Amino acid sequence: MERLKTRLFEMHRAAGRFYYDTLQSDEGVPARAYLERRQLKPNLARKFGIGYSPDRRHALFDHLKGLGYSVEDMVKSGLVIPDKEGSGYHDRFRGRLMFPIFDAQGRVVGFGGRILSKGEPKYLNSPETVLFSKSRNLYGLNFAKAARKKELILVEGYMDMISVYQAGFHNVVASLGTAFNREHAMTLKKYAEDVILLYDSDEAGTNAALRAIPVLVENGFHVRVTQVPDGKDPDEFIKQNGSAEFSKLLVNAVHYISFQIACIRRKYALDNPEHRVRFATEAAQILTKLESDIERDVYTAEVSRMTGVEESAIQNEIRKLRRKED
Ligand code: GTP
Ligand code: MN
Ligand code: MN
Ligand code: MN
Ligand code: MN
Repeated sequence: MERLKTRLFEMHRAAGRFYYDTLQSDEGVPARAYLERRQLKPNLARKFGIGYSPDRRHALFDHLKGLGYSVEDMVKSGLVIPDKEGSGYHDRFRGRLMFPIFDAQGRVVGFGGRILSKGEPKYLNSPETVLFSKSRNLYGLNFAKAARKKELILVEGYMDMISVYQAGFHNVVASLGTAFNREHAMTLKKYAEDVILLYDSDEAGTNAALRAIPVLVENGFHVRVTQVPDGKDPDEFIKQNGSAEFSKLLVNAVHYISFQIACIRRKYALDNPEHRVRFATEAAQILTKLESDIERDVYTAEVSRMTGVEESAIQNEIRKLRRKED
C-alpha cells in the first residue's frame, strides 16, 4: 500500500511538471493569455505550479507511459480514465488551466482544472483517490502554514486563494466549493485558532458560510465573517479595488453571531410588529447557542436595539429555550 502511495506521489509530480511545461510551450498560448487576463503574476503562477493540460485525448497518458508508469497506477491516480468502449484510455483533464492541489507537506495530491472559456463543468477536480480527499484537503494550506499566523482566511475558490495571497495576505486557504466539514476543521486546527470566513457574497456563498460557521465553532475556532460587496468574490474585489481596500474588509470582519443575525434580519421588515416578533424569536435561537454569558449579553442588546424588544424579554426567551435543550 505504501509503495502504491509513493508511486502515485511521483506520478502526480510528473503530471504537474508535464502540465507546467505544456503551459510554457506553443500549446499553452491560449492558457497564458487567459492567465494574463486574470492578472496572475508569472512568479506566482510558478510558485503555485499552474499548468495547462493539452487539448488532446491522451497526451498525459502517453507521457506517463513513456516514463514507465503502469496503466493500473494511472487509473488509480484518477488522471487517466478507461474509455467506455474499447480498450483505450483518455486523460481526465484536457484543455484546462491546471491548479495542482498540494498536501500540507507540499506534495501534489490532485488537480483542479478550469475551462478556459464558458462551459461545464467550469472546474473539474481530481476524484477521491489514495492521495486526495476533497473533504480533507484544502487548497493553499501548504503555503498558508508557512505564514505561521494564528488566524487563517477561508475562501471558496482557487483564484480567490491565489489573489488574496498575491495581495499580500499569505494566511489564506480555499475549501474548493465543497461543503466545509469536520475533517477540514480538524486539518486546519493543526495550524490556526482563528478563522476569517470570506466566502463569495452571492446567495450560494452566503449559505455556504452560514453552514460552515457551526462546523468551525464546534471545533473550537474563533470565527469572524466578512464579505466583499455586490455579490462578487474576493478575487474580483481585489482586482477592482486593490489590497488596501481589501485589507479594510478583513479589519471589518464581524463576530459570526453578528453575521448570522444580519442574515436572518434580511428576511424581515422590522417596521411590522409581526416580523419583529418572528425576527426576535429566531435571533433568540441563535443567541441560545452562545456559551459565553458576556457574548450573549452583548448580542442580546444588539437584537434589542434592532427590534425595540426589551432585553429582559429576549433573555427570558433564551432561558426558556435553554431549559428545553437540557
Ligand atoms: P472563477 O470563475 O475561475 O473565478 O471561479 P470561482 O472560484 O469564482 O468559482 P465559483 O465561485 O463559481 O466557485 C467556487 C469554487 O467552487 C471554485 O473555485 C471551485 O473550486 C468550485 N467549483 C466551481 N464550479 C465548479 C464545478 O463546476 N465543479 C466542481 N467540482 N467544482 C466547482
Ligand atoms: Mn490515439
Ligand atoms: Mn460562487
Ligand atoms: Mn471568481
Ligand atoms: Mn467565486
